[in-house]
Amino acid sequence: MHHTSVALTGLGSYLPPQRITNDSLCDRLDTTDEWITSRTGIRSRYWAGPGVATSDLAVEAGHRALKSAGLDAEPGAVDLVVLATTTPDYPCPATAPDVAARLGLGPVPAYDIAAVCSGFLYALAAASAQIVAGLARTALVIGAETYSTILNPADRTTNVIFGDGAGAVVLSVASDQEPGLLLAMDLGSDGTGRDLITIPGGGSRGRATMAEPAVDGHYFTMQGKKVFTEAVKRMTESSQTVLDRLGWTPDQVDWLVGHQANVRILNAVARGLGIPQERAVINLDRVGNTSAASIPLALADAAADGSLTPGSRILLTAFGGGLTWGAAALTWPDITAA
Ligand code: COA
Repeated sequence: MHHTSVALTGLGSYLPPQRITNDSLCDRLDTTDEWITSRTGIRSRYWAGPGVATSDLAVEAGHRALKSAGLDAEPGAVDLVVLATTTPDYPCPATAPDVAARLGLGPVPAYDIAAVCSGFLYALAAASAQIVAGLARTALVIGAETYSTILNPADRTTNVIFGDGAGAVVLSVASDQEPGLLLAMDLGSDGTGRDLITIPGGGSRGRATMAEPAVDGHYFTMQGKKVFTEAVKRMTESSQTVLDRLGWTPDQVDWLVGHQANVRILNAVARGLGIPQERAVINLDRVGNTSAASIPLALADAAADGSLTPGSRILLTAFGGGLTWGAAALTWPDITAA
């Protein structure tokens, strides 16, 4: 039987206009630019203003990805929309159908993926598997977040790290020759670590009641130190699995595009894999940790500065709440990111 190949054929990204510097956080939190920069590598992040929801960012990035793929936002442009997010517009329904409708894509299947910071890779796997199975020929895969809406304003450890934004790619049925092919993927989870990254309230275990709004339970919480250790271990192992599957040596990787959590995490993953640090794409200094939007935003920055050229060998990897993790390899396509 002929095996269907899947290629990345478009890339778009969007950041909300309000840039939040480290110094501006110091006005209301007990922290310093020096601490944030040296512990995380982050210098600024973007936060969506009041009234701006995740779907608003997703629609912008979606538009740009379609444009980059040479597609008009109209019915028939794509036949699948998958949105990775931890900050959906509502607990119910999913955000993807609204995004698909507002992009004018017609009655396509559309659903959300909840895998926290690994969400984009999970969405990439789901969409490409649907293409390989013949359920779709072209898919819009979006990672979009507004963590600013779930951060506890009093929690300095999370406020300094997370930012808002959206990135999107178009995946299409491909010929085996073209650059942009998705070559291999690995995904995993460990639910015993569920408490390391959590929003305890609002779900079936901690439902908000009319009588007593459980405000604190709706904030995002993270045990930073344990997350750090797990992130390095899982991203390194998952990346190595993908390299082994392809028979790639570390020096065959042109760019390591890891989830932008912390520059020390990314450096440790590169070191563990034997990939020189200069080949790790870093844009968290500008955008912070944007969770499911992180990888497409990093790809967009690396494409914009000319680092990614057609045929470049790229290794993606992510780690997030769940715990979840994953890695993927692809060659860079001949596209202009929007
Ligand atoms: N400003 C100043 N001090 C801070 C601070 C801040 N924003 N946040 C924490 N601190 C303090 C702590 O309270 C602690 O003080 P103490 O020693 O008096 O208790 C000290 O700094 C060290 O804290 P620690 O948590 O050990 O620091 P760390 O080096 O582990 O860095 C993180 C903290 C959150 C930056 C780091 O653990 C991390 O990046 N973890 C992974 C987070 C992540 O990437 N999550 C997403 C993955 S999907």
